[in-house]
Amino acid sequence: MSVHQSSNIKRVTTHILQEMKMRGEKISMLTAYDYSMAGIIDAAGIDIILVGDSASNVMAGHETTLPITLDQMIYHATSVVRAVKRAFVVVDIPFGSYQGNSSEALRSAIRIMKESGAHAIKVEGGAEIKESVIRILSAGVPVMGHLGLTPQSIYKFGTYTVRAKEEAEAKKLLEDAKLLEECGCFAIVLEKIPASLAKKVAETVQIPVIGIGAGGYVDGQVLVIHDMLGITQEFKPRFLRQYADLQSIMTKAVQDYIKDVKDREFPTESESY
Ligand code: KIV
Repeated sequence: MSVHQSSNIKRVTTHILQEMKMRGEKISMLTAYDYSMAGIIDAAGIDIILVGDSASNVMAGHETTLPITLDQMIYHATSVVRAVKRAFVVVDIPFGSYQGNSSEALRSAIRIMKESGAHAIKVEGGAEIKESVIRILSAGVPVMGHLGLTPQSIYKFGTYTVRAKEEAEAKKLLEDAKLLEECGCFAIVLEKIPASLAKKVAETVQIPVIGIGAGGYVDGQVLVIHDMLGITQEFKPRFLRQYADLQSIMTKAVQDYIKDVKDREFPTESESY
């Protein structure tokens, strides 16, 4: 007896993402961390859902992405995967679970894939994490790279300003992108770098390049869902386009509810048994 579910929905795969780059169709990507949000984004037609370690900020209220644990990432990823029917689901390997030790990197990647059912993992960095990337790829796990402003290294950078404006850093970034492609990564995220450099990377490598604050000449775009929906309001970098003001809408709804409860307007007879 087959255990495969029959469905008319064609799932996004690494192969499809590669074809999209080749024919010049832009790739859409957003973060999600829970079942309800992932279901909405997936049904709306997003290509890639990233279970980002930005969950550390927007879900847990930490200042950086460093505190989130592997267990917590797996919890978020599992909730997202349960909701998704079409999108390709990528999960961030959190800080401290893959750098400097390729055996641990492989163990972390396998736990994410096995326990969450996600389709790929994302790592931050280039040459310095090469061994870990190769080891993970050797187990058949698709890997997405992440270069430029890599938030797990925020204490090394000191600020969240634009990266790779200087020639030496730009040269290293391009070399790292080529290295990630050679290793076998299926895509790369470029965060907060000059648009001209991002364009050069996207033209140099054959794999899809997804930008966040990296201009319009790349193969796709990613944003953090809480930022683009206006749930968070304090984070307003130049690259962020806010598509809704959910904070205002939610605040008004909650205030209306409080008023109705206090005024005995809710529930009515028709809302009672
Ligand atoms: O964690 C995250 O949300 C990310 C995106 C900003 C690319 O890595």
